[in-house]
Amino acid sequence: MQGDENNVITIDGPAASGKSSVSSRISDKIGYLHVNSGLMYRAFTWSVLRSGIDLDNLDSVVGHLNSISINCGQSDGISTLTIDGLDPGIELKASEINENVSLIAAIEEVRTVLVSKQRGYLKIANIVMEGRDIGSVVFPETPYKFYIDASTEVRAKRRMAEGESDDLEKRDKIDTFRKISPLLIPDDACVIDTSEMDLEQVVLKVLNELKARGLATV
Ligand code: CDP
Ligand code: CDP
Repeated sequence: MQGDENNVITIDGPAASGKSSVSSRISDKIGYLHVNSGLMYRAFTWSVLRSGIDLDNLDSVVGHLNSISINCGQSDGISTLTIDGLDPGIELKASEINENVSLIAAIEEVRTVLVSKQRGYLKIANIVMEGRDIGSVVFPETPYKFYIDASTEVRAKRRMAEGESDDLEKRDKIDTFRKISPLLIPDDACVIDTSEMDLEQVVLKVLNELKARGLATV
């Protein structure tokens, strides 16, 4: 990124478009840290649900945010997160989280805290960060922006193949129409429709685009 020591590659897109798979492959290939910002929103949602807080009570949710300690780190090239020392692990993909995460992610105070932690990663490493607002809000200055998409049918099939219960359309709708940092195609992003592409083809396209945009390490 211009003026900064480290580079950031941003990968935004709707649910099950392939963000994690692509981010993981690209970060491995070029030795960057893979940061999954969605897991941060999932982890906070997990913590709220676990505490028995009424999700409709904004004051209680924000109060909970201010009462916990969120620690971001890294392990084996990927971001990690604990809340009050606990690692939610595979519980982050539970259907209860899928059902509620977008409502929690629409809260301004939650985004402020988590965006600050996301920006913190750039101070320690070159990163590939995936999410919804990474190119538009978290790192708007980076020249290395991607928006990965696929048709609703293809995405639903991909998620079903993973054996997960996840109402993608409902989540996408909330993410797209929320007031703060909605899901959108960032200015200057390279848009890739992966509906008819396998992972290797997407990875190749991203690498070629990074080269074209002047990323020296590719
Ligand atoms: O993997 P998948 O695309 O299904 O979801 P995710 O990336 O784990 O994100 C889960 C949810 O977190 C999204 O549906 C959004 O509501 C929220 N999110 C967000 O608001 N902003 C981000 N930068 C990343 C995720
Ligand atoms: O992170 P996001 O929710 O956007 O998607 P993902 O977890 O990377 O991908 C969802 C599923 O689609 C995974 O099982 C991938 O292996 C699969 N996938 C695919 O079949 N073809 C692609 N071009 C990308 C992902």
